[in-house]
Amino acid sequence: MTELEGKTVSETKIDGNTYKIFPNDLNSNGMVFGGLVMSFLDRIALVVAERHSEKVCVTASVDALHFLAPAKAGDILIFKAAINRTWKTSMEVGVKVEAESPFSGKHIHVVSAYFTFVAVDDKNTPCQVPPLLPESEIEQRRYLEAGIRRKNRMDHARDISQRRHQKNTFDKT
Ligand SMILES: CC(C)(COP(=O)(O)OP(=O)(O)OC[C@H]1O[C@@H](n2cnc3c(N)ncnc32)[C@H](O)[C@@H]1OP(=O)(O)O)[C@@H](O)C(=O)NCCC(=O)NCCS
Repeated sequence: MTELEGKTVSETKIDGNTYKIFPNDLNSNGMVFGGLVMSFLDRIALVVAERHSEKVCVTASVDALHFLAPAKAGDILIFKAAINRTWKTSMEVGVKVEAESPFSGKHIHVVSAYFTFVAVDDKNTPCQVPPLLPESEIEQRRYLEAGIRRKNRMDHARDISQRRHQKNTFDKT
């Protein structure tokens, strides 16, 4: 397999896309509907992955999606997304959303998540992605931490697979 040319984080990142919240974006509790925000997160992160790989990408998994605070009608959602690490055919993209009150200017951290995308060809076969060249200290920290999350994902998948292959056992642990 030929080595592709590396790309930096700043070549593909999204730094401050905005979405104004209107009443039809709310849940029954008057806060922004979480599923709507999740859909935005996936799309925004996808843009980063496709910019990096220059391929069609599919969402393989999502880690650590935590809603930390509610956003409300009138707020402005501000999306930031950056690639944290690449492997052979997959990439981890981190996304953070803040809600800004247009009246006070106050920002609150609403949600963060880590998406793993796989670049695929026209037969949906995973294909190689360019390596990432982390530059700043924060990019290097995210690169290392993405490795820890990937190990957890792999360990989890292996544990589940082993468990499913163990026949006639049932223990609640
Ligand atoms: C993601 C997908 C392409 C992986 O295909 P696959 O045949 O399992 O491919 P492989 O086992 O060769 O793995 C390919 C890459 O995917 C990664 N991967 C597979 N499953 C994963 C998961 N659950 N989480 C994170 N990464 C995963 C592998 O680690 C590998 O990455 P690497 O090459 O960088 O090491 C395939 O499972 C798929 O098409 N899933 C559906 C995707 C989709 O429809 N998304 C939208 C959901 S609505």
